[in-house]
Amino acid sequence: MTLAKLLRRLQDLVANLVAALETMLLFPALFRDPFRTRPGPFHSAYWRRRSLDSLADEVDRLFTAPLTPPNMCAMSDQMRAQLSAALQSSQINMLPSYTRTLPTGAETGTFLALDVGGSTLRVSLVHLAGQGTMAIRHVASTPIDEEVKLLEGTRFFDWMASHIDTMLAEVDAEDGRGPVPLSVGLSWSFPLEQTSHNTGLLIHMGKGFMCSTGTVGQELGQLITEACRRRNLSVAVDAIVNDGSATLLSRAYVDPTTRMSLILGTGTNMAIHYPVDCIGRAKFGDRPPAWFEGAPHVIVNTEMSMFGGAVLPLTRWDEILNRTHLRPDYQPLEYMITGRYLGEIVRLVIVEAVETAHLFRGELPHSMRDAYSFDTSLLAAIEADPSPQLTISAALLQKEHPGTHAPRPEDMRFLRRVCQTVSRRAAGYLATAIHSMWSLHNDADAEAESPADTVPGKAPKQVTVIEREGNPRSLSIACDGSVINKYPGFRDHCQAYLDQLTHETAASRESLDPSPSLIHLDPAPESAILGAAVAVAIAVSEQP
Ligand code: GLC
Repeated sequence: MTLAKLLRRLQDLVANLVAALETMLLFPALFRDPFRTRPGPFHSAYWRRRSLDSLADEVDRLFTAPLTPPNMCAMSDQMRAQLSAALQSSQINMLPSYTRTLPTGAETGTFLALDVGGSTLRVSLVHLAGQGTMAIRHVASTPIDEEVKLLEGTRFFDWMASHIDTMLAEVDAEDGRGPVPLSVGLSWSFPLEQTSHNTGLLIHMGKGFMCSTGTVGQELGQLITEACRRRNLSVAVDAIVNDGSATLLSRAYVDPTTRMSLILGTGTNMAIHYPVDCIGRAKFGDRPPAWFEGAPHVIVNTEMSMFGGAVLPLTRWDEILNRTHLRPDYQPLEYMITGRYLGEIVRLVIVEAVETAHLFRGELPHSMRDAYSFDTSLLAAIEADPSPQLTISAALLQKEHPGTHAPRPEDMRFLRRVCQTVSRRAAGYLATAIHSMWSLHNDADAEAESPADTVPGKAPKQVTVIEREGNPRSLSIACDGSVINKYPGFRDHCQAYLDQLTHETAASRESLDPSPSLIHLDPAPESAILGAAVAVAIAVSEQP
């Protein structure tokens, strides 16, 4: 190598070193390893200690700054634009189901309902008695732990079949063993490309599930019937619905005016009953022309979790979560508001607080090093703790994540503030997303009422404006899921944000009644299994 070349190499080396040092000084967080327990002497945090209060203030500022009503309205408008665009062309969200008919409440029968949720499998027998009344006759719930989530391909369906087998054996040893296959309704809490009311092709699943590995594009009903056949069980999957759609159906059985539903548990989603004419034709796949004739509306599985990217601001902890996720950017809203992620966001704040603000005396409990090790149920317990020094939740924390020292009251006060901040932001972002869906719904109503429909020679659109009592824009949303229905105060906070949002909208549009509660969140417990049973009842009643 010539001397000139050697000098050029040395120059490059020095330039690279200077650039690296510059980046380290400007963006120390990029070089912070979230899995360390204590800061080392080369760690910027080692030299920059701060108080827990000042970190809690910063967390509060970063998480709640976007939650002013005008800003939330602006974000809702941007999300509505994303929803509208996806309604025309997306293949992974705003998915029209095959369910056009809502139940009348008169459907009857006893059905086997399966609910594959993000953290529980439920196998149950549901009895629909007509007149809008229904009852769960028998239910077997099994947690889906991390090991099961990691089962790939057909192994997951074999696991499911074993639980169907056990439950049926408990009820009646003959069920599913006779010549006539047992009719099953399935509520599926994952995206699915539906190909008929009882078939659908698997899409990547999310929520840490690996069962779509090697099975993407395969038919879900068939995967289940074949797994059952391997156990000598004869079942026919007669209806498949997303859990959001199941919630809508279960509530509509009782209240036929229901048009929207919400899930917020391990994951989040909304289903809407929406005019077929307002959805891009390409999204319906290969349906026979006759399908469209009797179908003014269809239930749309919005896969709402996938919206909000580049709209809802992220904090540095959200960025770490997204960057280290199996599928970065796949479900932006979900990563900030659901049961699977709230605990992880708080854990990432804890890791920083241990390093920089001497939380837990600067020692991260060993068990908290792993991603997703801080369960959202702990956040709920900390927020709900009635003891003045938070001793109840401190004991729970020490039990689940033992450290050398028990958490101090100041540690617990810091944690409580962070949990409140993270859950309030989730309630605010959820309200923003619901508001965007409500606006989309109103757009469709407005289009139905628009004079363009009365242009001579143009066939009127087959859109029915939904009659609701009182204010025609008011809406009841059937909601289910552990976070929305059980996390302390969550639904009330979300409702309060919704009231602010609709008030803000009303103030800017004179045509709307300015009464604040235009959107109501109404709990619909057990909706996945009840809705799966309703879906089978509708399918069976529609069979020729
Ligand atoms: C996830 C899934 C979606 C499901 C929702 C609620 O976001 O993608 O299909 O409905 O969670 O369980």
